[in-house]
Amino acid sequence: MTKNIALIGFMGTGKSTVSHYLGKRMGLEEIEIDEMIVKAEGMPITDLFAKFGEAYFRDCESKAIQKLQDKKKAVISCGGGAVIREENVINLKKSSWIVLLDASPETILARVKDSTKRPILNGHMNVEYISGLMEKRRSLYERAADIKIVTDQKSVEAVCQEMLSMLSKLDGAES
Ligand code: S3P
Repeated sequence: MTKNIALIGFMGTGKSTVSHYLGKRMGLEEIEIDEMIVKAEGMPITDLFAKFGEAYFRDCESKAIQKLQDKKKAVISCGGGAVIREENVINLKKSSWIVLLDASPETILARVKDSTKRPILNGHMNVEYISGLMEKRRSLYERAADIKIVTDQKSVEAVCQEMLSMLSKLDGAES
Protein backbone atom coordinates (compact mmCIF):
# COMPACT_ATOMS: atom_id res chain seq x y z
CA MET A 1 0.00 0.00 0.00
CA THR A 2 1.47 3.35 -1.03
CA LYS A 3 -0.50 5.28 1.58
CA ASN A 4 -1.76 4.93 5.14
CA ILE A 5 -5.34 3.87 5.77
CA ALA A 6 -7.48 6.42 7.61
CA LEU A 7 -10.80 5.15 8.94
CA ILE A 8 -13.65 7.62 9.25
CA GLY A 9 -17.32 7.17 10.08
CA PHE A 10 -19.90 7.63 12.79
CA MET A 11 -19.34 6.36 16.33
CA GLY A 12 -19.91 2.61 16.50
CA THR A 13 -19.28 1.85 12.84
CA GLY A 14 -16.32 -0.34 13.81
CA LYS A 15 -13.30 1.93 13.27
CA SER A 16 -11.31 0.83 16.33
CA THR A 17 -12.02 -2.88 15.83
CA VAL A 18 -11.12 -2.73 12.14
CA SER A 19 -8.03 -0.63 12.85
CA HIS A 20 -6.75 -3.14 15.37
CA TYR A 21 -7.31 -6.07 13.03
CA LEU A 22 -5.68 -4.31 10.07
CA GLY A 23 -2.73 -3.24 12.18
CA LYS A 24 -2.02 -6.83 13.15
CA ARG A 25 -2.72 -8.35 9.74
CA MET A 26 -0.81 -5.80 7.67
CA GLY A 27 1.90 -4.95 10.19
CA LEU A 28 0.80 -1.32 10.30
CA GLU A 29 1.25 1.10 13.17
CA GLU A 30 -2.12 1.60 14.88
CA ILE A 31 -2.96 5.22 15.61
CA GLU A 32 -6.14 6.34 17.39
CA ILE A 33 -6.69 10.10 17.16
CA ASP A 34 -8.76 10.06 20.37
CA GLU A 35 -5.91 8.31 22.20
CA MET A 36 -3.42 10.91 20.95
CA ILE A 37 -5.69 13.62 22.38
CA VAL A 38 -6.11 11.84 25.72
CA LYS A 39 -2.32 11.50 26.00
CA ALA A 40 -1.59 15.08 24.95
CA GLU A 41 -4.21 16.58 27.26
CA GLY A 42 -3.80 14.14 30.15
CA MET A 43 -7.52 13.50 30.59
CA PRO A 44 -10.33 11.42 29.12
CA ILE A 45 -12.45 12.76 26.23
CA THR A 46 -15.53 13.10 28.47
CA ASP A 47 -13.60 15.35 30.89
CA LEU A 48 -12.25 17.43 28.00
CA PHE A 49 -15.78 18.03 26.73
CA ALA A 50 -17.08 18.79 30.23
CA LYS A 51 -14.26 21.15 31.21
CA PHE A 52 -13.45 22.94 27.97
CA GLY A 53 -16.32 22.19 25.57
CA GLU A 54 -16.57 20.66 22.13
CA ALA A 55 -14.77 23.47 20.26
CA TYR A 56 -11.66 22.89 22.38
CA PHE A 57 -11.83 19.17 21.70
CA ARG A 58 -12.12 19.88 17.95
CA ASP A 59 -8.96 22.03 18.14
CA CYS A 60 -7.12 19.14 19.82
CA GLU A 61 -8.41 16.79 17.13
CA SER A 62 -7.17 19.05 14.32
CA LYS A 63 -3.76 19.39 15.97
CA ALA A 64 -3.43 15.62 16.35
CA ILE A 65 -4.34 15.04 12.69
CA GLN A 66 -1.90 17.71 11.58
CA LYS A 67 0.91 15.86 13.33
CA LEU A 68 0.36 12.76 11.18
CA GLN A 69 1.22 14.22 7.83
CA ASP A 70 4.56 12.46 7.50
CA LYS A 71 3.40 9.10 8.88
CA LYS A 72 3.96 5.99 6.82
CA LYS A 73 2.67 2.41 7.15
CA ALA A 74 -0.07 3.32 9.59
CA VAL A 75 -3.75 2.69 10.10
CA ILE A 76 -5.35 5.78 11.57
CA SER A 77 -8.64 5.55 13.40
CA CYS A 78 -10.40 8.93 13.50
CA GLY A 79 -13.08 10.12 15.91
CA GLY A 80 -16.55 10.24 14.39
CA GLY A 81 -16.51 14.04 14.13
CA ALA A 82 -13.12 14.39 12.46
CA VAL A 83 -14.73 15.19 9.09
CA ILE A 84 -16.57 18.24 10.46
CA ARG A 85 -13.52 20.41 9.76
CA GLU A 86 -12.42 20.36 6.15
CA GLU A 87 -8.78 21.04 7.09
CA ASN A 88 -8.74 17.61 8.81
CA VAL A 89 -9.87 15.88 5.63
CA ILE A 90 -7.31 17.79 3.57
CA ASN A 91 -4.54 16.82 6.00
CA LEU A 92 -5.58 13.18 6.15
CA LYS A 93 -5.73 12.94 2.37
CA LYS A 94 -2.09 14.01 2.05
CA SER A 95 -0.84 10.62 3.17
CA SER A 96 -3.85 8.33 3.52
CA TRP A 97 -6.61 6.57 1.67
CA ILE A 98 -9.78 7.54 3.45
CA VAL A 99 -12.09 4.64 4.18
CA LEU A 100 -15.63 5.36 5.36
CA LEU A 101 -17.19 2.73 7.59
CA ASP A 102 -20.97 2.83 7.65
CA ALA A 103 -23.71 1.04 9.60
CA SER A 104 -27.40 1.50 10.28
CA PRO A 105 -28.50 3.61 13.27
CA GLU A 106 -29.92 0.42 14.83
CA THR A 107 -26.57 -1.39 14.57
CA ILE A 108 -24.80 1.67 15.94
CA LEU A 109 -27.14 1.95 18.92
CA ALA A 110 -26.63 -1.73 19.74
CA ARG A 111 -22.84 -1.21 19.67
CA VAL A 112 -22.66 2.03 21.69
CA LYS A 113 -25.62 1.87 24.05
CA ASP A 114 -23.59 0.90 27.12
CA SER A 115 -20.78 3.38 26.46
CA THR A 116 -20.34 6.31 28.81
CA LYS A 117 -17.32 7.56 26.89
CA ARG A 118 -19.14 9.36 24.10
CA PRO A 119 -20.20 12.82 25.27
CA ILE A 120 -21.94 13.56 21.95
CA LEU A 121 -24.44 10.78 22.71
CA ASN A 122 -24.89 11.49 26.43
CA GLY A 123 -28.62 11.62 27.09
CA HIS A 124 -29.30 10.83 23.43
CA MET A 125 -28.93 7.06 23.30
CA ASN A 126 -31.71 6.42 20.82
CA VAL A 127 -32.13 5.58 17.13
CA GLU A 128 -33.84 8.90 16.29
CA TYR A 129 -30.99 11.05 17.57
CA ILE A 130 -28.31 8.84 16.04
CA SER A 131 -29.96 8.75 12.63
CA GLY A 132 -30.57 12.54 12.74
CA LEU A 133 -26.91 13.29 13.49
CA MET A 134 -25.74 10.75 10.91
CA GLU A 135 -27.86 12.44 8.26
CA LYS A 136 -26.44 15.83 9.19
CA ARG A 137 -22.93 14.47 8.75
CA ARG A 138 -23.58 12.14 5.82
CA SER A 139 -22.47 14.46 3.03
CA LEU A 140 -19.25 15.25 4.92
CA TYR A 141 -18.44 11.57 5.31
CA GLU A 142 -19.27 10.72 1.70
CA ARG A 143 -17.32 13.64 0.30
CA ALA A 144 -14.20 12.81 2.30
CA ALA A 145 -14.18 9.09 1.50
CA ASP A 146 -12.16 7.31 -1.19
CA ILE A 147 -14.16 4.14 -0.52
CA LYS A 148 -17.08 3.14 1.69
CA ILE A 149 -17.75 -0.17 3.43
CA VAL A 150 -20.98 -1.12 5.17
CA THR A 151 -20.20 -3.06 8.35
CA ASP A 152 -23.67 -4.25 9.49
CA GLN A 153 -23.64 -7.97 10.25
CA LYS A 154 -20.17 -8.46 8.78
CA SER A 155 -17.22 -9.95 10.58
CA VAL A 156 -14.12 -7.84 10.98
CA GLU A 157 -12.32 -10.24 8.61
CA ALA A 158 -14.98 -9.74 5.94
CA VAL A 159 -14.87 -5.95 6.30
CA CYS A 160 -11.08 -5.92 6.00
CA GLN A 161 -11.05 -8.27 3.02
CA GLU A 162 -13.58 -6.09 1.20
CA MET A 163 -11.57 -2.98 2.06
CA LEU A 164 -8.21 -4.35 0.99
CA SER A 165 -9.55 -5.61 -2.32
CA MET A 166 -11.04 -2.15 -3.08
CA LEU A 167 -7.92 -0.33 -1.89
CA SER A 168 -5.54 -2.51 -3.88
CA LYS A 169 -7.32 -1.37 -7.06
CA LEU A 170 -7.05 2.29 -6.08
CA ASP A 171 -3.48 1.84 -4.94
CA GLY A 172 -2.54 0.02 -8.15
CA ALA A 173 -4.09 2.76 -10.26
CA GLU A 174 -2.14 5.40 -8.36
CA SER A 175 1.34 3.89 -8.52
C1 S3P B 1 -17.10 11.95 18.38
C2 S3P B 1 -16.69 10.63 18.29
C3 S3P B 1 -15.78 10.01 19.27
C4 S3P B 1 -14.88 11.05 19.92
C5 S3P B 1 -15.68 12.17 20.48
C6 S3P B 1 -16.57 12.87 19.43
C7 S3P B 1 -18.08 12.48 17.39
O1 S3P B 1 -14.98 9.01 18.62
O2 S3P B 1 -13.94 11.55 19.00
O3 S3P B 1 -16.47 11.65 21.52
O4 S3P B 1 -18.27 13.72 17.34
O5 S3P B 1 -18.66 11.68 16.62
P1 S3P B 1 -15.52 7.57 18.14
O6 S3P B 1 -16.15 7.75 16.80
O7 S3P B 1 -14.29 6.73 18.07
O8 S3P B 1 -16.49 7.09 19.17
